Formats: sequence, structure tokens, C-alpha cells
Amino acid sequence: MQSKEIRERFLKFFENRGHKIIPSASLVPEGDISVLFTTAGMQQFKPYYSNPENADKDFGNRNITSAQKCLRTNDIDEVGDSTHNTFFEMLGNFSFGGYGRREAIEYAYDFIKKELGLEISYVTIYKGEGIVPKDIESENIWRNLDSNLEVREDGSDVFWGPTGNNGPCGPTTEIYCKNASGEDVEIWNIVFNEYFCDGSREKLDKGEANLKKMDVLGIDTGMGLERLLATVQKKKSIYDTDLFLELFDKIEQFSSIDNSKAKCIVADHIRTTIFLISDGVFPSNTDRGYILRRLLRRAVRYADILGMKHGSLVWLSESIIEKYHQIYPNLLKNSEIIKKEIEKEENKFRETLVKGLKEFEKGIDPFILATTYGFPIELTQELAEEKGTKINLEDFNKQMKAHVILSQTASAGMFKGGLANHNEKTVKLHTAHHLLLAALQDVVNKDIKQRGSNITEERLRIDFVCDHKLTDEEKNKVENLVNEKIKAGLNVVRREMPLAEAEKIGAQMEFGAKYPEMVSVYFIEDEKGAFSKEFCGGPHISNTAELGTFKIQKEEAVSAGVRRIKAVLL
Ligand code: ALA
Repeated sequence: MQSKEIRERFLKFFENRGHKIIPSASLVPEGDISVLFTTAGMQQFKPYYSNPENADKDFGNRNITSAQKCLRTNDIDEVGDSTHNTFFEMLGNFSFGGYGRREAIEYAYDFIKKELGLEISYVTIYKGEGIVPKDIESENIWRNLDSNLEVREDGSDVFWGPTGNNGPCGPTTEIYCKNASGEDVEIWNIVFNEYFCDGSREKLDKGEANLKKMDVLGIDTGMGLERLLATVQKKKSIYDTDLFLELFDKIEQFSSIDNSKAKCIVADHIRTTIFLISDGVFPSNTDRGYILRRLLRRAVRYADILGMKHGSLVWLSESIIEKYHQIYPNLLKNSEIIKKEIEKEENKFRETLVKGLKEFEKGIDPFILATTYGFPIELTQELAEEKGTKINLEDFNKQMKAHVILSQTASAGMFKGGLANHNEKTVKLHTAHHLLLAALQDVVNKDIKQRGSNITEERLRIDFVCDHKLTDEEKNKVENLVNEKIKAGLNVVRREMPLAEAEKIGAQMEFGAKYPEMVSVYFIEDEKGAFSKEFCGGPHISNTAELGTFKIQKEEAVSAGVRRIKAVLL
């Protein structure tokens, strides 16, 4: 039985039993800002558990069924084994006071045993804790249905919810079946939403949230399509089911390297990426966009490990769109945007990935990898773990915080950060900019102060206080000095220090800028000491030898007493 048929049979099964089929909601939940993504089928129905009468108004029915797109990133490190996905589809039936435990359990039993012909290994019931009693009713229902069935008691694993900051929750009963490897896997989770929790699950577990009995019993069930499929199709892995067939064929066209984990990661992450973009999420550095970026960049890394050529991820996206577009039409509708976004992000990251990996081999600096090479911190952590080391997350977070404050001041025009972007050429010009300021002070006047700057990937621009037009001789000397420091291959070193200490050592700062208590200072050091030391949030390259040849293009007046230099690296 193929995925399409199972999905349809599930929905039909419940439709035939008085449920209304509701289409999948977006992966971006509406109306619940406390969750980033839709993580369960019940998410879009959450409010109906407290106000069941609204279901009558909205659906003309208290019993609902759906196949819902879901995304969970908590198991991301597990992706690559036989049972984990980030994106998955959840088959579910829901009731807001329409029926109770007996019907919910009988439906599930009938679907699994009669409709699909699967054997159940065992089921679980909640053993009870605090104000929530042992679920004897469910136990009896199971025993009456099938006296041979093993019923196991379990603890907090079989108490589900709430999602987000508060919501319905309750004891569950789960159905386990054997997979093709002979292991018991959880197939179906049937939740009895009897309580409303006034805090998050985390708070509930810590005893900081309270449960209140709800007026009506709600039913919320969830069965992961991928896992169910693996069991039905007798496959050892979800990646061997028909959902991934064409995708794996394509991956294998691009790669002859035998690395199953890498292939699963590419397949999983690219599928999630496509669904996210189709729901309007774009790569960025915050919230949902960050998760997307992290998944996509990890896919790029593993595509690289597999030797898949640049651009192949876009090709993969076509087979996923082909596989799913009939069920999720906005995949086709947005296919051009999807491909463009994947292409853009892959272009951005392919080049810095290789350079960043080299940088990583020299010594792990998660901050530089993040700001200069675009490595999500989780990727650096993963790389470090592969080497058997750990990175200091606390340090990294502190550095990033200082960096964000500095770049915010930069974007407000107060600080000379002024980088148009963080690509490699821009970053090189940024380091050259530091050399230039130091050279101006060395050649023209040691008191020269910077008044502003702007750096693009083509050129750097610096405005500085100076009472005269630079002579040709001065310009030549400045240029030569910068080139001398480039040739000397000086290290660019970042140090974090209290503001007072940075001021004491005379690090260059921008007039009028506001700095946090802890600041980052970049040093460019030669045999005599620091040729340059500037307050700066980075990013920079690590050694001046990488810069090429420095050339002043133009020197001009901006206003009385302020000069401007434009310069390039050849
Ligand atoms: N909402 C329940 C789950 O996600 C069914 O497992």
C-alpha cells in the first residue's frame, strides 16, 4: 500500500464514521505565537477543546479528521537513523465532546487491525500521578476489545501536552507495532484531553503549572504517516518507503558515495525546507527563518560530504514537489520561489562552507565561523562533537550578544561597522579598512580619528578628521605601508574585554558611539605589537596575507576638516 492510499484510507475511514475532513493547516501556526511551528495535528484545533460549541459553528461537526504537515526539530540530531524526520505528516482524528475513550480506542483498533491488517505488539496506559488518576477506563476498554493484548502502564511519556504556553492536555494510550527490524515502534498516540494546563509542559513538569479539569473530554490522536508506512510496507527505515523513493533515486544520481546517514539528512532537510518555503518561511537569522537556514545549510554540508555538485539541491526539490503537489497544491504554486530560495542559500553557503571548514581545522572559533562563514552554531557544535570536543556555548552567546549590539549601532550609523554584507570580499575590505586607519595615523597624523565608513564587496570608504588634502607622497606612503602589513602576513586577533580596559589600551573607537560593558577589540599584530587595535564587532579574516594588493582610488573632501578615501583590493 502506497503513501497516497494510506492517507486517503485513513481520512475516508473517519469520514465514514461521522468525521469531517479538514485540510492541513500551514506549518506556521496561526493565532498561537507561543509556538514556532505546527508540531501536531491538534495545533489548528487547539481553541476548540475549551470552546467546543465553536466547532459546530466552524465545521458543523464536533468530530474532525486531518492529515497535518508537522515540523519538530527536537530530534534533529537523530535524523539519519531509520525512524526520525524533522518534517512529517500526522494522521489524526479529533473530537470536542463528540465521543469519548471507548470510540477513540475502538476506531484505532479497527483501523490498525482490520483496515491495515497489522498486529499490535502492545498498548500503554497512564499509570497516574498527582491529581491525575490511573487510566483504568482505557485499560478495561482494551482488555474487553482483545483479551490477548498486552497492556503496559507508563508514566509521564503517556501524558501529552500542552503545546506552547498553555492549553489542553491529558493522559494517553499508545499503540505499538513491530517494524521490519523486529523492534516495537510507537505507531499511534491517542490523547484524552481532560485537563487545561495554565503553563507550558516544562513548567508542568517542574510543578510550576496547574491542571484544571475541562468541561468536556476532548480526543486528540496522532499517527506519523512515515512510521506507519514503514510498518505497512515492511521497510526497515522510513527512508525506504515510497515517500522517499524518487528522492533517493535522484540523490544517488548525484552521488556515488556510500553514506546512508548523509543521504537521509539531505533527503529529510531538503523536504522540510521545501515545505517551509511553500508556507512562506524564508532563510534568515531569527526564529523560523533561522531554523530553515540551519536545516538548509546542514543539507548543503551533507550534500558536500556526498560529493553532490553545486546546484543539485534545487534538482532534488523538483522530485519532492512532484511527489506531494497533488496533496499540497501550494508546493507547485510556489515552486519557482522555492527553487530560487534554495539556490540563493546554497550559493551563499557553498563557498564559505569549504573555507569555514578549513578555518575550523586550524582551531575552533564558533564566533568567527558564525559571523564570517555563516556557520549556524549547531553546525559548529556538530563538527566539534565529531572531533570529540565541545564548544563553550556561554562564551559564544556572550560574543554574539556584543556583536549584535555593535552591529545595531553600526546600522544606526553610529559605529564604523558599516558592512553592506558579510561575504568574503566585504570582510577582506573590512580588515584592510583597519590597516588603512592605522597607516593614516602612522603616516599623516597619529591623532586622526574616523568619522564614518561604508564597506561593500567592491570597495571600502573611510571618512576621517584631517585638516588638509593628502599629498601624493602621503597617499603613496599610506598605500605602501598597508601593502607591507599585508605581505607580512599578520594575524588578526579578536579579544573581548571590559570597555574601560579597551579605552585604557587606546583602542580606536568611533566618536559618539555607545558601547556595551564588554567590548570586542580586533588587534592586527606585528613584531612590535599591535599595529592596529579597534573596537569592532567583526567579522574579519584571520590573517592579512589573504588580502591581495591594496590601492587607494580616490581622496576627497566631505566637509570642512573631514576627508574621504575610497580604496580597493586587487
Ligand atoms: N497530539 C498528540 C501527539 O502529537 C496526538 O502525539
